[in-house]
Amino acid sequence: MRHKNALVIGIANEDSISAGIAAELSANGYNIIATYLNEKALNHVKEATKGLRVTGLFPYRVGNDEQLQDIIDYLHEEDMRLDVFVHGIAFASEITKDLHDVSWKSFKDSTRVSAFSMVEITGKLIKADLLNPGASVLTMSYIGSLLAVEGYNMMGPVKSILEALVRGLACELGSKGIRVNAISPGPVMTRAASGIKGFSTLLEFIRQVSPLKRTANLKDISTLSYEILSNRSVTGSVFLVDCGSSATLRVSQNKPE
Ligand SMILES: NC(=O)c1ccc[n+]([C@@H]2O[C@H](COP(=O)([O-])OP(=O)(O)OC[C@H]3O[C@@H](n4cnc5c(N)ncnc54)[C@H](O)[C@@H]3O)[C@@H](O)[C@H]2O)c1
Repeated sequence: MRHKNALVIGIANEDSISAGIAAELSANGYNIIATYLNEKALNHVKEATKGLRVTGLFPYRVGNDEQLQDIIDYLHEEDMRLDVFVHGIAFASEITKDLHDVSWKSFKDSTRVSAFSMVEITGKLIKADLLNPGASVLTMSYIGSLLAVEGYNMMGPVKSILEALVRGLACELGSKGIRVNAISPGPVMTRAASGIKGFSTLLEFIRQVSPLKRTANLKDISTLSYEILSNRSVTGSVFLVDCGSSATLRVSQNKPE
């Protein structure tokens, strides 16, 4: 039986959600083609993917078409087509600012990196005929797409855009047998998350109020991700994996003055 192939973009280190998903895919026999943001990240990404079935490791920054072309050329040279594309990228230069202070440039750049890049990369892979029939695309959202979460600021609307792109792309690509979904994990301490103001407090609060009295860990998230990637009946959906935290509304015990 041939090994399946997965392109995983979004590993920064071993805490990255994408690192967990790459490990799950590798354990299930996938070859992993991974990317790293820059030379500074390379050793962390190597460490995070040590022991996985990694066949290619490439630099990639959203918008760098030459770097994307190098990945495409590699896949052509190796006669590899992809069964999975994991998009685990987010960046917002003004994440700590209140929404009404955010500049258009920062919002626009964040939308490109964190949302539109999923469509951009998928489109280039299709044009290069590199997605197998039945291929599956998975991106990562957050409940801040639906609710205004304190500290999440500009990333909430960007995640709303991402989720709309998931639905739109899924409808367009269904006839090619390509599926597009998102997971929406509860808070996990990662490099990206550490840039969000008050994240540790949010994590602890969610742990206390979630029905399961804990937050989802990398294994929880990657197990669900693998099921979504493999299940040929799901597309255009956003799957919560948050120990139920988004199903509850708990207010502070502190009495208003
Ligand atoms: N950690 C959480 O609590 C949480 C919750 C819900 C959703 N998410 C989402 O999960 C995804 C993965 O984030 P994470 O928490 O694993 O953090 P992370 O920091 O480990 O991963 C973010 C990745 O984005 C990459 N990236 C940033 N800018 C880029 C650019 N211009 N070009 C290419 N890559 C770029 C980084 O190199 C990094 O690998 C993100 O979409 C994030 O919004 C995270």
